[in-house]
Amino acid sequence: MSDLRQSPSWRRLAAEAGNARTRRIVDLLRDDPSRVDRLTHAVGGVTVDASKTHLTPDAERALTELAGEADVVGSRERMFAGEAINHTEGRAALHAALRTPELRSARVDGEPVGPVVETTRRRMAGLVDGIRSGEIRAADGAPFTAVVNIGIGGSDLGPRLVCDALDGDAGPLAVHFVANIDPVALDRVLARIDPARTLFIVASKTFTTLETLANARRVRERLVAAVGREGVCSHLVGVTGARERAEAFGIDPERVLDLPVWVGGRYSVWSAVGLPVALACGNEAFDGLLAGAATMDRHFRDTAGFENLPLRLALAGIWHGNFLDIRNHIVVPYGERLALLPDYLQQLELESNGKAVDRDGDAIDYPTAPALWGTVGTTSQHAFFQWLHQGTEAVSCDLIAVRGRGGPGEDELAANCLAQGAALLAGTGASGPAATDAGAGREPHRRLPGNRPSTTLLLDDLTPATLGSLLALYEHKVFCQAMIWRINPFDQWGVERGKQLAGALVPLLASGADDDTLDASTRALVRRYRGIGS
Ligand code: F6P
Repeated sequence: MSDLRQSPSWRRLAAEAGNARTRRIVDLLRDDPSRVDRLTHAVGGVTVDASKTHLTPDAERALTELAGEADVVGSRERMFAGEAINHTEGRAALHAALRTPELRSARVDGEPVGPVVETTRRRMAGLVDGIRSGEIRAADGAPFTAVVNIGIGGSDLGPRLVCDALDGDAGPLAVHFVANIDPVALDRVLARIDPARTLFIVASKTFTTLETLANARRVRERLVAAVGREGVCSHLVGVTGARERAEAFGIDPERVLDLPVWVGGRYSVWSAVGLPVALACGNEAFDGLLAGAATMDRHFRDTAGFENLPLRLALAGIWHGNFLDIRNHIVVPYGERLALLPDYLQQLELESNGKAVDRDGDAIDYPTAPALWGTVGTTSQHAFFQWLHQGTEAVSCDLIAVRGRGGPGEDELAANCLAQGAALLAGTGASGPAATDAGAGREPHRRLPGNRPSTTLLLDDLTPATLGSLLALYEHKVFCQAMIWRINPFDQWGVERGKQLAGALVPLLASGADDDTLDASTRALVRRYRGIGS
């Protein structure tokens, strides 16, 4: 058995879980009048109410001890000091320094990170101002009217989410994103823009990613046709940690923005990867995003124990996932502007913590990240909420709402969020207006058992700052969980094998050639794809 499972706090939690299973969350709320206040906290315009979860005071204490035994605080300090805590790649994980100035005194390989961060931010801001003001123009001298970001994973999901959340399209530049290698993705965007008026950003930390390079090559061809070979450079910007590859691709060195090696892809929206955000929404909005994240960084750094919101979210997740066997975590943002948040969190949580080997290389014997998925409310209520309320799988949810400002439909939207939290909690039981649904008492098919834990996150408003706080909250949650699970959240070796195999399969699919090193099923599919022998 692993050391973690043998630790005193883990054993206490396992024992406490037995008690917790017999207690309903509605009873925890009824029996402890201070529960809501104790488990509700606001930081950076984000209020987190964890009172509708299975947390109990005993569990909170033992979970806090678990975090102490795991030395989450020490790991946080090592991360912020620029130590190579991503040990499998020998890298620091200093993305927080991109947004929190006081963390920039950290050094990587003896070099302070501050100057790198500040120089790139200045260059990015200059480019943004120049393009938005029309001072920097397309090859034919006309101002740009559109921006297309070509990138995938962390080079796509963050800026795509933030642009959408902040209504980037309402600005002077139409912003589009192309990630998939499926040519349809790029074709659809090209059909809506004039390449001669468009700035294309090629965002790739490694500048080797198959999808991004394929799309970038197609764009380059299209640009040659639209503005001539000599005009192409005016339309391309590179964001990368591999400047030499971007330059070799044909991007003007002046138009390459550097991504430091110590910024992981899924933590990179705060870097020059956020360029589409700054172009769409302005430098001020981008700085607001950074400032909001900095507020959460400071809270994370300065707040002890269970009061620390990212740690609290992490511990609640561990309580549910490791001790109460809840292996599905559902994220439902109530608001179209946050519709892309579940996709973003999937990469953040699952690429970070979808691991089964600990930092010493030993197989682990406890669950790590649960399945995470979700879609926007209220539409998702008409899809999978039936399963949430009456299905046989145990689930936990994050329900995310934004405070209304008196606009039409806002209260209805928030009411749905709160209603679902209440229904998940109490089901058709003894709380709220649903208790008057007499039929639900008599007819089993109408009964909702409730007792499904949910955490409600309420944003004061959807601004760059609150969004920054929200994303940093999740980042630090993921970090805390990883430290407790003793895994490295900053690598992603699991995605490499599929990439290699895809590379090897392309020529086979093109030619129909056989490869007897492949498994029988894949070999047969290659032949079928080519229409051989079917
Ligand atoms: O999905 C694997 C991954 O390496 C992610 O971690 C990364 O965000 C994405 O691919 C894109 O990588 P790059 O920015 O190097 O193109």
